[in-house]
Amino acid sequence: MKIFIDTANLAEIKEAASMGLLDGVTTNPSLVAKEGLEFKPLLKEICKLVDGDISAEVVATDTEGMLREGRDLAKIDAKIVVKVPLTKDGLKAVRTFAAEGIRTNVTLCFSPTQALLAAKAGAYIISPFVGRLDDISSDGMGLIQQILTIYDNYEFDTQVLVASIRHPMHVVDSAMMGAHIGTMPFSVITQLIKHPLTDLGLERFLSDWKKSQK
Ligand code: G3P
Repeated sequence: MKIFIDTANLAEIKEAASMGLLDGVTTNPSLVAKEGLEFKPLLKEICKLVDGDISAEVVATDTEGMLREGRDLAKIDAKIVVKVPLTKDGLKAVRTFAAEGIRTNVTLCFSPTQALLAAKAGAYIISPFVGRLDDISSDGMGLIQQILTIYDNYEFDTQVLVASIRHPMHVVDSAMMGAHIGTMPFSVITQLIKHPLTDLGLERFLSDWKKSQK
């Protein structure tokens, strides 16, 4: 499973990339707004730091506007994947982008029917939001299983990117189900590494070693 970081923060991206485990970056308008930096220069910096897909989202809500913004974003770097919301206008834009060879990440997916339509439109990536579904007492990971089954049934190439990951169990379940990508905040990437028994074991090894050296 590919691991993406869900942030527009350069320090976090740099740190995760230095671990050698980063396969890509997802951003969204909220994450970019938090950084208080200009969008395009920020994307250029991110592209320099990571060798992988970098999702950049359009903010227009009509097809023409999405096409205009998306074409512009795609010109920044070959790594850019244009993020488009899962709306009627969005699906129209995805079809045109696919015909033009521009890769899309269809975001704000909350149902299997939405995912089916995105794949039929030619999406490169579909982003179902598991955490936000869990928040409203729906089964986020259940949606991932449904989408994987549907895509498998019809041999769609669209990659399933598990978005809105909140904790390591979302990552474990995604990998068990065979999702293609998981995008997560830096805090979750850090949690994936940690285990109290690793810390305790290391502490004991080092203290035993120290004692033997006297
Ligand atoms: O980038 C999309 C998604 O991962 C957002 O997650 O935590 O805001 O629901 P969250």
